Amino acid sequence: MKALVYGGPGEKSWTEVPDPTIQNPSDVIVKVDTTTICGTDLHILKGDVPAVAKGRILGHEGVGTITEIGASVTSLKVGDRVIISCIKSCGHCANCKTGLYSHCLGEEGTSGIGWVFGHLIDGTQAEFVRVPYAENSLHLLPEGVSDQQAVMLSDILPTGFEIGVQYGRVKPGDTVAVIGAGPVGLAAISTAGLYGAATIIAVDLDANRLEKSREFGATDVVLSSDADWKEQLMLLTDGQGVDVAIEAVGVPATFTMCTDIVRPGGTVANVGVHGKAVELHVEDLWIRNINISMGLVNTNTTPMLLKLVAQQKIPADSFATHHFTFDEFMEAYDTFARAAETKALKVVITA
Ligand SMILES: NC(=O)c1ccc[n+]([C@@H]2O[C@H](COP(=O)([O-])OP(=O)(O)OC[C@H]3O[C@@H](n4cnc5c(N)ncnc54)[C@H](O)[C@@H]3O)[C@@H](O)[C@H]2O)c1
Ligand SMILES: [Zn+2]
Ligand SMILES: [Zn+2]
Repeated sequence: MKALVYGGPGEKSWTEVPDPTIQNPSDVIVKVDTTTICGTDLHILKGDVPAVAKGRILGHEGVGTITEIGASVTSLKVGDRVIISCIKSCGHCANCKTGLYSHCLGEEGTSGIGWVFGHLIDGTQAEFVRVPYAENSLHLLPEGVSDQQAVMLSDILPTGFEIGVQYGRVKPGDTVAVIGAGPVGLAAISTAGLYGAATIIAVDLDANRLEKSREFGATDVVLSSDADWKEQLMLLTDGQGVDVAIEAVGVPATFTMCTDIVRPGGTVANVGVHGKAVELHVEDLWIRNINISMGLVNTNTTPMLLKLVAQQKIPADSFATHHFTFDEFMEAYDTFARAAETKALKVVITA
């Protein structure tokens, strides 16, 4: 088969590799029909994730059709259309039992690390992928949900919802600011309404992404390159600050922006993956009763989000800005890597 293979920092190729085979009784093999690229894949290609070995097939998002099942798999069959979750979950370890799939203790990849696809085991940017713990890590796709919609449920929708909206404890009537209107920030924007957010403010440096955020439910937008961005934002909250500030960028400056704009008693929900140390001013924050949350997505809300996508209550199609076929994989990476110019959000790549 062909797959997108990591060759060390700056190196990748769409190349011939051996087909995956069943290795454990709970595995299945999925023929990948649709996949996409995540910002994390770009981080890996820069060499920022040293755990990724040369020769690794990248990708942790995908939708496909089961072609082979392991001996212990009873609830899935050949021919089933499935969403591949970006997080492995054995379903029976102590962490899986509490819904903390991001720390699944199953041995696959490494015990205690849920994100293994395209990281510690071969991923989804391939014609076929082996999925461990398949009965818990795959989601059956109902009729009426397209591949393009479903692939947004592998990672970005549960991430924005769980780590942004749920960890941020959004409640009815809240004013929520989302710093960073990339795919993950837009996923938080599109799901903040589920808990009744009244005002949803998108904040970004990119005017195009701000415009786009209205399609996902942003009620107001603030261009953070404006010198008076903070005054603009405070005006939208009667000078009080926001109830919940969601960080969806992953740099120190945007984390500080969140702690600056949150109201007393409010929550900062950090979603961004930080590569550098962030200063935390507990000496100022304690007296303002600020809560801070963070985490790796568990994907335990995927079945619920899938229902809402099926009912067209989450605009999953709006994330898809560019379309490619597998033989255009390198072009897809190039378009995604130049998102500011190409206006790419999610590139959808089909077999
Ligand atoms: N916690 C998790 O489980 C998890 C899962 C997936 C992704 N992530 C992380 O979420 C973050 C967002 O992912 P993405 O794919 O949407 O990223 P992205 O790079 O596509 O989007 C980031 C957005 O932030 C904007 N931005 C950059 N600097 C800014 C600033 N100073 N002020 C305002 N906006 C600014 C950019 O213009 C861009 O639109 C990343 O750090 C990613 O690694 C976390
Ligand atoms: Zn991802
Ligand atoms: Zn587990």
